[in-house]
Formats: sequence, C-alpha cells, structure tokens
Amino acid sequence: MSKRGRGLILGIESSCDETAAAVVERGARTLSSAVASQIPTHARYGGVVPELASREHLRAIVPVVRAALKQAGVTLDDLDAIAVTAGPGLAGALLVGVTYAKALAFALGLPLIAINHLEGHIHAVLLHEQERALDDAGFSPEIQPPSESGALASEKNSPSAAQSGLSTAQCEEPALALVVSGGHTHLFLARPAHGSWTYSLVGRTLDDAAGEAYDKVAKLLGLGYPGGPWIDALARFGNPRAVPFAFSQIKTKIHLAGKPPRTKAARTAPIANLNPHFLFSFSGIKTAVLRYVELHNLRPEAQARAARLFPLRGGEGTGNPEPQPASKPPQTKAEALALCPQQTLDLIASFQGAVVGDLMKKSFAAAESLGVRRIFITGGVAANRELRARFSAEAARRGLRVAFPTLSLSTDNAAMIAAAAWPRYLSGEFADLALSANPSLALGAIKAPK
Ligand code: KG4
Ligand code: ZN
Repeated sequence: MSKRGRGLILGIESSCDETAAAVVERGARTLSSAVASQIPTHARYGGVVPELASREHLRAIVPVVRAALKQAGVTLDDLDAIAVTAGPGLAGALLVGVTYAKALAFALGLPLIAINHLEGHIHAVLLHEQERALDDAGFSPEIQPPSESGALASEKNSPSAAQSGLSTAQCEEPALALVVSGGHTHLFLARPAHGSWTYSLVGRTLDDAAGEAYDKVAKLLGLGYPGGPWIDALARFGNPRAVPFAFSQIKTKIHLAGKPPRTKAARTAPIANLNPHFLFSFSGIKTAVLRYVELHNLRPEAQARAARLFPLRGGEGTGNPEPQPASKPPQTKAEALALCPQQTLDLIASFQGAVVGDLMKKSFAAAESLGVRRIFITGGVAANRELRARFSAEAARRGLRVAFPTLSLSTDNAAMIAAAAWPRYLSGEFADLALSANPSLALGAIKAPK
C-alpha cells in the first residue's frame, strides 16, 4: 500500500565526486542515506577528474537510488517529492543528478525541488539538531498520520516547533554558518523566516577552499586522497607551534586593484562589498608548506612514503559504484604515522593548527559583528577533530552555541538535500522540467559590512 503523504522526500546529490541518494521524512528524520564514493577513481590523480566523475555518476545513480529506497523500506510510490542539487558543482556531474531527478519526478508525477549544495550543507546541521531534538522528545514523525487527502494539508503554512521537535526560540534564532569543504569556504548569515530560511553571504575564500589546501598539502606530503582525514589523523602527533604560518590580513581594495581572482568560484561572486575581515585565502599557506618542504629537502621522504602507502597508484581500478558508508576511514593511517619523521608530523600539525585558527578567528569575528549567538559549521572539513574541539571550546568561552552535523553528514550526502527541500515542499516552491544544472549557482545576496 502506498504511504504517500508521510512527507517522504528522495534527495539526490551528484555535484562532485559522491553519488548520493537519501530518503528523509519531513526534513527531520533520515530513513536512509546511501553514498557511492568515487574516491578510488580519483585518488590516483590526487584530485577530482571531472570527466571521470560524470561517468561514475552515470554508473552509480540507479543503484544508489535503489539502495536508498531499500534501506528506507519504501518504494517510489511512497515518495512525496524529489529533491536534487542544482549547483554549484561540476557541470557534467550535476547534470547526471538533475536529469535523473527530472525524469523521476515526471514519471511519478511528483514535485521537483531544486536545492543549492551549500544550503544542503547548512541543513545537514539542522537535520542533526532536529533528529536530536526529536529523540530527546521521544517523538517519531512516523506515527503522525497523514491528513485525509493524503497531502500534508495541515502543514502547508510552516512546520511548527512541535513538529520539528525544536523550541520556538531555537527555530527563530539566526545563525552564522561556516561551510568549509573541498570546494567552498563561505560564511553565511542564515535567518529562519516562517519555517524557511534566508541566507546572506558574509565572507568567502578568494582562492582555494580550506579542504582544497588540505588535499594539496596531503598530496605534497605523500599522503592519501582526500587529504583531510589523513592530516586530521596525523596532526595529533606533531607540535602545532613548530612551524609558524601566518595568515595576513586581506585588503579587498588591494586585491581588486591587482590581478583578477584566479578561480572560477572567486570570479563568480563579487567580494567588493564584503568585510575584508571575513575573507579567507588558503593558497598562501599551501605555498608556504611547499617552500618548507623544499627548504628542508622533504620531497624524497614524501615520495618514498607515497610509494610505500600506495604501491598501486597509477594502476588502480576504476572505482566501485556500489553504495558505501558515507565516510570510510582509510586503513593505513597507522602505517602513515610510522612513515612520518617528527619534523613532518610537526609540519602537518602546524598546517592544521594555522588553518583551524584562521577559520576560528574570522568566524568568531563575524558572529560578534553580526550579533549572532549560534554558529553552524558544516562541509567536509567540519569532520576535523581539532576544528570541532577548538571551535567548541572557544564558543563555550564566549557563551555561544556551536553545532556540527554528524560525521557522515559533514561530507557530501543526499540526506542534507532532502532535508533542505522540506521547507520548500511546504511552501510549494517547485522547479519545473526546464530546470538545468548551474555550476556557479550562488547562495544568498551579499551582506554588506555595517
Ligand atoms: O563536503 P565535501 O565532501 O565535498 C565538497 O563539497 O567539497 O568535502 C570534501 C573535503 C575534502 O577536501 C576533504 O579533504 C575534506 O573535506 N575533509 C576533511 C576531513 N574530512 C574530509 N578535512 C579535514 N579534516 C577531516 N577530517
Ligand atoms: Zn559539499
């Protein structure tokens, strides 16, 4: 029997190198989250190869959606809407998800909901908060019967605090959201408004994303891809004060007067109106690590380490399209530790300490300037242990609240896409079949400094 009317949204995510599908109930309860990682495909290149990513998405999308439905114990007939990441991301990768979602929505006669990937990351935090609040309240949305029409008529206005399990105050409070991943380092002011959210851009990186710096430094040091989890694991064994890395103050006007921003992402979002204190730049620290490696002749050691850790690099298979757990810990970190002299561990710890310090400095300054009392930290780098510990300690010291997604919802997944779609479902904000992938889709208007 069809369970349509339960508020089940199928989310689909394919913006980068994970093909993901998930079923989320009323934006508040994850029934399934399947992720087919392409890491084995891209690892040997030390970064995502867009053409390979599209091909892998094509191979994985059908099995991943099937796995998500099976895990959730539902069928296509039970769904109320299809949500998909429309951008930003890799053009060919996004296209696979968008085209598949459109076809599915058309065939099933269901609403199609377009979600910005960055908004999805922010909703990963909200989803976790909702699930925790529902668990604390012993409330299961599954026991709520659908209205007689089968549609969620009683909820068409906005999800009440009682429905979400969160208090009204929690629902209504604005938050500063730091989205920090392999493709983004953005600060948004997120404001709840009648069950939905609006976003203003407060800060962003001018060049590399923080996760990109992690990936490049890890590659340079002969560690695995993606680099974040490797550096995260090894940094604890080094002295973070051994190598002084400095982040200099960014001056917007000077930057604009010089060469145009190098990356496409930086070119597509104007920064002239942003407060320079909330702008990031991670290309400098990457170059500083490279200089240190050259100055101290660490390259041969890094190459030897890579050869020991990844003897198959350059000849590995083409990836496994079968769904895998959202975050799969690499098995050889202990081996990597044994292959790192203390000087390298100190370099790794100093790099991570400096990156986390810079993210903290600017995020807390932005929170203070905007007068917000809570901070969301999300995206792949939000899985970092040092980052979580230091942000939590500093927030406690300042009397602020900080929230992260679960570890598996920090990196790319589709549960966050389905969760972000719920307020849009309630307000009837649907996309039509002309929806196209937008690789440089922006989120929120620029928040000009006071
Ligand atoms: O959110 P995500 O899965 O994809 C993007 O939207 O980019 O983030 C992937 C990024 C990679 O750069 C990866 O190195 C980084 O997140 N990452 C981490 C950790 N886990 C993943 N960075 C630092 N510490 C981690 N534990
Ligand atoms: Zn992401």
